Amino acid sequence: MDKPKRPLSQRSPHGPEGPARSSRPPLRRGKSHSPRDGDRSRGGTSWEKSADWYDRIIGEHGSALYQQLVVPSALELLAPQRGEQILDLGCGQGVFGRALAQRGANVTGLDASASLIARARTYPQQGLRFVVRDAAQLDGLGPLDAISAILCLQNLEHLDAVCRSAAAVIKPGGRMLWVLNHPAFRIPRQSSWGFEPERKIQYRRLDAYSSALQIPIVMHPGKASSETTLSFHRSLQELLQPGFAAGFSLAGLQEWHSPKESQPGPRARAENRARREFPLFLALLWRRP
Ligand SMILES: C[S@@+](CC[C@H](N)C(=O)[O-])C[C@H]1O[C@@H](n2cnc3c(N)ncnc32)[C@H](O)[C@@H]1O
Repeated sequence: MDKPKRPLSQRSPHGPEGPARSSRPPLRRGKSHSPRDGDRSRGGTSWEKSADWYDRIIGEHGSALYQQLVVPSALELLAPQRGEQILDLGCGQGVFGRALAQRGANVTGLDASASLIARARTYPQQGLRFVVRDAAQLDGLGPLDAISAILCLQNLEHLDAVCRSAAAVIKPGGRMLWVLNHPAFRIPRQSSWGFEPERKIQYRRLDAYSSALQIPIVMHPGKASSETTLSFHRSLQELLQPGFAAGFSLAGLQEWHSPKESQPGPRARAENRARREFPLFLALLWRRP
């Protein structure tokens, strides 16, 4: 049997799967994520040391995947209106916040990483302001028409506290958009691609799904002493529960697929089919009744 290859990139900041198992920091398993040592924001502080690297990849406008897929799809689902007050949670260097501001919204970008917020402030800031805060500390930032959380929720251990805090600052009828790596198909270290040559099928292999996992992501695989960030895997049931518990209703759900096409070759057809079968991202639109 041919050696399985990995033609679809998994080493992006939004879905790295890390190097060989022997060099990886250990996984933690648990029924659900619970805070330890009183520290509810370890996900945020773990990004601080990766700010330079992340800014080189994402920069002012985002990677190609952001520009082609994430930003336009998120704008369409959230439908920001001119003059709305919108909070972009875990904003990083502000790519989505700038897209919202260009639509005429008044945007606050919030992130726990002071270095990423410093990067955000080096880019055009019309209609935008930035604050360094934990995602569960939103007091004083409302009343808001909407909150966006783009590819940051898997870094948050305390999703329950974040949802409660969000519910307190969103106006009745307000929206909250979540965009995540698809939790059913993209689980760092627990999902991978394989190729079955007899059937010419590129398949998705899942080694775990239902267990809550805390997964250290090695940001620079191959570098002797690489920084790690934490990714918190939750099953769909566990992911949605904090939103419902905070009183939000689910108003929309979309699954977004990669727009890439393989170069012509023996596996191109199978790879393209796999891209159409397995979504990269899950987008959820919540509404506060
Ligand atoms: C993958 S980056 C995404 C950044 C940005 N939304 C984007 O799409 O480019 C995850 C972000 O979540 C932020 N973050 C992680 N934990 C956080 C927390 N507890 N509070 C606020 N921000 C946090 C990190 O600092 C980082 O900027």
